Amino acid sequence: MPGDSAVGFTTGATMANFTCLAAARDAVLRRAGWDVSRDGLTGGPPVRVVVGADRHMAVDLALRYLGLGEPEPVQADDEGRIAPDSLRHALAAGGQGPTIVILQAGDIHSGAFDPFGETIRASREKDAWVHVDGAFGLWAAASPAYARLTAGCADADSWATDAHKTLNVPYDCGLAIVRDPLALRAAMGLHGDYLIQDEGGDPIDKVPELSRRGRAFTVWAALRSLGRSGVADLVERLCRHASAFATGIAGIDGARVLNDVVFTQVCADFGDDERTDQVLSRLLDDGTAWISGSTWHGRRVMRISVSNWSTTDDDVRRALAAIRRASLST
Ligand SMILES: Cc1ncc(COP(=O)(O)O)c(C=O)c1O
Repeated sequence: MPGDSAVGFTTGATMANFTCLAAARDAVLRRAGWDVSRDGLTGGPPVRVVVGADRHMAVDLALRYLGLGEPEPVQADDEGRIAPDSLRHALAAGGQGPTIVILQAGDIHSGAFDPFGETIRASREKDAWVHVDGAFGLWAAASPAYARLTAGCADADSWATDAHKTLNVPYDCGLAIVRDPLALRAAMGLHGDYLIQDEGGDPIDKVPELSRRGRAFTVWAALRSLGRSGVADLVERLCRHASAFATGIAGIDGARVLNDVVFTQVCADFGDDERTDQVLSRLLDDGTAWISGSTWHGRRVMRISVSNWSTTDDDVRRALAAIRRASLST
């Protein structure tokens, strides 16, 4: 991310998306001559929000909080990546009004990343604000082996991520990163006569809350102890485990890995929905590994999201043995 971006520490990625999108909403309206901080949304120009069909629902929630209503979904491919041509088409069809485009770094089912270069270029032609939801996936950028997944992503205007996912700090720690510090301050800043002001601004000017704990501390501590190479190792280890899960599951009779495993997510089924649910429930009864189910492309799936720093190769072997046992007994 650009080093001079403003960074606010939120409860998680939902609120990081909210914070970035508040800056986005206000900025695109300001460009259209409307001051939302002073005049509110009523009577202002409509804001178009364009998203990939497979975005995370936290984005919709943030938009709801912001009074922006339902976004316009654009077609995504089988892995959940927004289709650049469809985005271009949708943007061209919509005229020149205030527009926000929301992209995704890391789909919760497939782990796929949107093609940032093309989509951000198309959005720029419409003077749209581009926001990236990268709750767990943005950390790919920290690994030389996986950074290619985020190629072009740094050209966006804002990014939401979690430190409590891939970086593994305790829960309650998201990051709202905004390229233009003034845009974030315009949306979140406040003045209180009793508050100490200084030129560098205050962390409360970058998030929706006043009182909160010092969330940045755990991020500082994790980064300081891991260092650049430690974060890269962490990301690469999670990805290695995901690949091992995919290879192991593909070797189980009747099991299919359904996604292209590019990062930390693996989705598999075991035949029909009923059998997949049986395998999931037997796996939980077995107690070796806790892996949840989901519904993806209309079918029940076993969804693995490798995110814990302490998972070892042996844990993956034991979990795979448990999945195999669960599939044999159905
Ligand atoms: C892509 C994406 N966005 C947003 C969220 C919401 O994050 P949080 O639970 O930290 O609010 C998640 C959670 O899994 C996610 O994967």
